[in-house]
Amino acid sequence: MKIDTSSTQNTNQLVSQRRVINAPADTMLQLLPYKYLWAPEFFDKMYANSWHPAEINLNEDAAVWKGSALTDQEREVFLRSLAFVSNLDTVQTYSLAHAISKHITAPEIQLLVIRQLFEETIHVLSYTQMIELLGLDPENTYGRYRHDQALKRKLDHICEPINALLDPNFKTGSFEDNQKFLEALVNNILLEGVFFYSSFIMFYALARNNKMLNSARMIGLINRDEATHCGLITLVVNAMVDENPELWTTEFQAKMIDMVKRATDLEIEWGKAIIGNGILGVNPENITQYIQFLADTRLVAIRLPRQYYVENPFPWVDDFTQIDQELGAFFETTVSRYSQEAPTFEQSSLDW
Ligand SMILES: [Fe+2]
Ligand SMILES: [Fe+2]
Repeated sequence: MKIDTSSTQNTNQLVSQRRVINAPADTMLQLLPYKYLWAPEFFDKMYANSWHPAEINLNEDAAVWKGSALTDQEREVFLRSLAFVSNLDTVQTYSLAHAISKHITAPEIQLLVIRQLFEETIHVLSYTQMIELLGLDPENTYGRYRHDQALKRKLDHICEPINALLDPNFKTGSFEDNQKFLEALVNNILLEGVFFYSSFIMFYALARNNKMLNSARMIGLINRDEATHCGLITLVVNAMVDENPELWTTEFQAKMIDMVKRATDLEIEWGKAIIGNGILGVNPENITQYIQFLADTRLVAIRLPRQYYVENPFPWVDDFTQIDQELGAFFETTVSRYSQEAPTFEQSSLDW
């Protein structure tokens, strides 16, 4: 799409037609007046979370990695977890840049997605720093999906709705294509809000046992960003559904619930594959419960019914991410002020 300076519509006319997708293209990104009143605060929150991987000193972790403190199983858990999260962040970077942002016609949302994209590049660089400073074989992390079938299955599942949007002939506009885009956004919530988590938990479990502490610190910062992204895409999904209620049919809702359940099963399968009979306090039962808890949280946030009704078995994760204190307070105030724009936050403001 070319940058268009030929429009004769003023900004008030533009904003009156503004929608998440399928609005007249505002290639000049004329933000004001805002339609989505949560957007500027959300941008401030993302900016306040800014960090750079060089701030995390991994020297101590490198010494631990090269020493004898870690068991073979712990090393394998670390490597497999790192392999997956690094793959997932590269997929997300590509997805936002090439599959999602270009279809969004609301300028304030497009800016937020571009900021999100920047944060994903920080995550990609973080894993690069881990690989370099710990002295890992890049093929054993980036390329592990070529040899690890459970990893490849999970990646292929995540990439399927993204690849549908990457078809060069894809464009929003028809009922079917609008639903396809909405499905890709819900899949994106799962990417940000479910698929990272059985890997994240392993870094925290190691750190709770006093191993690889600064790697866990770095992962905690990434986790905080992903939780914010999950909140952002949730707001976008709900805004899109409000603007296009005809898309949110009973059949489509059932399809989304099935997608969440399939993602939950895959993530549990992956988690169990990593831990075997259990390691460092994480076992097949509590990792299953954790992923089910997260899935329910994401479902409720997009106004779909819970499927599992379980409690969070790992409340101590918040010690690593600081999500409860920082994001919780932010979302709580944002919700109460902008409840019309983001009604689901009232139900799930503290559960990112
Ligand atoms: Fe990321
Ligand atoms: Fe993300």
